[in-house]
Amino acid sequence: MSQSHDPNAEQREFWRAAAVWVDQQERLDAQLAHIGVAAMDAVDGLPSAARVLDVGCGCGQTSLQWSERVSGSVLGVDISEPLVEVARRRAAEHSAAYPEAAPISFAVADAQTADIAGLATESAADNGSFAGFDVVFSRLGVMFFADSVAAFVNLRSATRPGGQLSFVCWQRARNNPWLVSVNKAVLGIVEMPSSDGPAVDPFAFADPDHVQGILGAAGWSDIAIEPHDTELVFSGGGTLEETVDFAMDLGIARRALAGHPPEVHAQVRDAVTAVLAPRETPAGVVFPAATWIATARN
Ligand SMILES: C[S@@+](CC[C@H](N)C(=O)[O-])C[C@H]1O[C@@H](n2cnc3c(N)ncnc32)[C@H](O)[C@@H]1O
Repeated sequence: MSQSHDPNAEQREFWRAAAVWVDQQERLDAQLAHIGVAAMDAVDGLPSAARVLDVGCGCGQTSLQWSERVSGSVLGVDISEPLVEVARRRAAEHSAAYPEAAPISFAVADAQTADIAGLATESAADNGSFAGFDVVFSRLGVMFFADSVAAFVNLRSATRPGGQLSFVCWQRARNNPWLVSVNKAVLGIVEMPSSDGPAVDPFAFADPDHVQGILGAAGWSDIAIEPHDTELVFSGGGTLEETVDFAMDLGIARRALAGHPPEVHAQVRDAVTAVLAPRETPAGVVFPAATWIATARN
């Protein structure tokens, strides 16, 4: 398929190969859960029978959480097949444990280009009677589009008139030392291979004016972008040793250390330990974390 037909092909490949999101799913969920819940709480006047779209749903924790908050239905959409596979497995277990939860379905799709209303109509959860989502939500899953305006136009086209958008994204890197300090420790010792894949910038939505511009250009109204400054238990908790293991498994360390001998791994491990140790508390390794919660209406 040519690049013009598949604008996010490189992202698809990156996220298909992002094994850390599968391998460390429980720890990542524990680390990020409260951040997603803050963006869920930002939706107001939610009809109880709401239909929710979870964009870039990854391994599906937020889709499961939504299914306990609404009685309508939840559709999780993600470009990465391995992540959606995990989400589907978890949803099956979840529905068995919580039969009263709203039906959840998932689709492997590019949220920028997919016919999302069509996916919702096809999904078993919506019984073919789809009339637009009440809520379009994302936890950290909307910063990676090749064309963000086109993506938010596409998402709006699947939203009912008056339906709400709510997502959470990171503020700038400087305000999020949990990632920056680990990356610095790793890259102070080893370089990133120059052949490393596409630019995947978790801080791409750090400038609220930029986000406001994208949402406005995509036709959303009542746009609000509020700071949500919080803390984050790096790796979701556990001992310093376990947290260092987790940091060494993240994308940056994995990719930068590939092919290096054990003594270099050990050096990097020491450097990572040195930045995490001062943050150790009885609850785990705790850092400040700064996010934006963006809300808007169709
Ligand atoms: C930082 S992860 C967040 C995953 C999940 N929301 C969570 O909080 O655990 C970003 C997610 O966005 C997905 N993604 C990236 N580009 C996408 C696109 N164009 N369409 C749909 N999903 C996309 C990735 O596959 C990945 O699962």
